[in-house]
Amino acid sequence: MKKSNLYNNSQKINVFSDTDILVRKFSLKFKNDSDKVFNENRKYFVALSGGQTPKKLFKYLAENYIDKIHWSNVHFFWGDERCVQLDNSESNYGEADRLLFSKINIPKENIHPVICDGNSETARKKYEEEIKSNLFKKNDKLVFDLIILGVGEDGHTASIFPNQLNFISSTNICEIAHHPQSNQERITLTGPVIMHAKKIVFLVTGESKSEIVCKILRKCVGYDKLPAALIKPESGIVEWYLDREAAKKL
Ligand code: 6PG
Repeated sequence: MKKSNLYNNSQKINVFSDTDILVRKFSLKFKNDSDKVFNENRKYFVALSGGQTPKKLFKYLAENYIDKIHWSNVHFFWGDERCVQLDNSESNYGEADRLLFSKINIPKENIHPVICDGNSETARKKYEEEIKSNLFKKNDKLVFDLIILGVGEDGHTASIFPNQLNFISSTNICEIAHHPQSNQERITLTGPVIMHAKKIVFLVTGESKSEIVCKILRKCVGYDKLPAALIKPESGIVEWYLDREAAKKL
């Protein structure tokens, strides 16, 4: 397995020769981090990304970590969710439930989906309340232990799109976003909540992301207008887990 670590000031970049190895390494890290929190008698609060990339991770965890993680101590939220019914094929919750939650022994109350029943503002408010009533605060800021993010080819992350950069600094916990092409309504965590997380991990795979990964990590012209490039941790570092295809232009 060829892996190179590129460290710089506030981010660690891990490159893996293929996606399977990336998922295997990330899963082990997830286990170790969640065990540490369990041993400190704290709940482990995680926000998942949606889309295609995390599917392999969910499958791998379901197949290999059924009894190796204290799932009853892990609480799952989402960095963003499409405003659809939970059983809709577009639902990020639905994907995670199908591939992971339905295969492991995790209490239903540990899963905190965005409930969209037609009114996106109601969904936004309810999700905001769900986060506030579960997460701990540090310096009056809600703190996730881990936020897993993907990156779109346009540089969006969660559902903060390049034409909605104000969400990077919004004082709300979450906002109603609109996909720039489909205009689909989405609920997204805002930049400050993401940046308060103890650990932020970008999981990015495939050649289709190589251009945007290069633009962000090499700070090419215009990178500072890309939401994913504007995610700067309050403390700790941002980690990138890339497969060789996504990293090929670095
Ligand atoms: C979503 C995501 C979104 C995703 C990126 C990458 O709901 O779609 O949360 O931010 O992470 O668009 O998506 P892929 O993994 O499908 O490339």
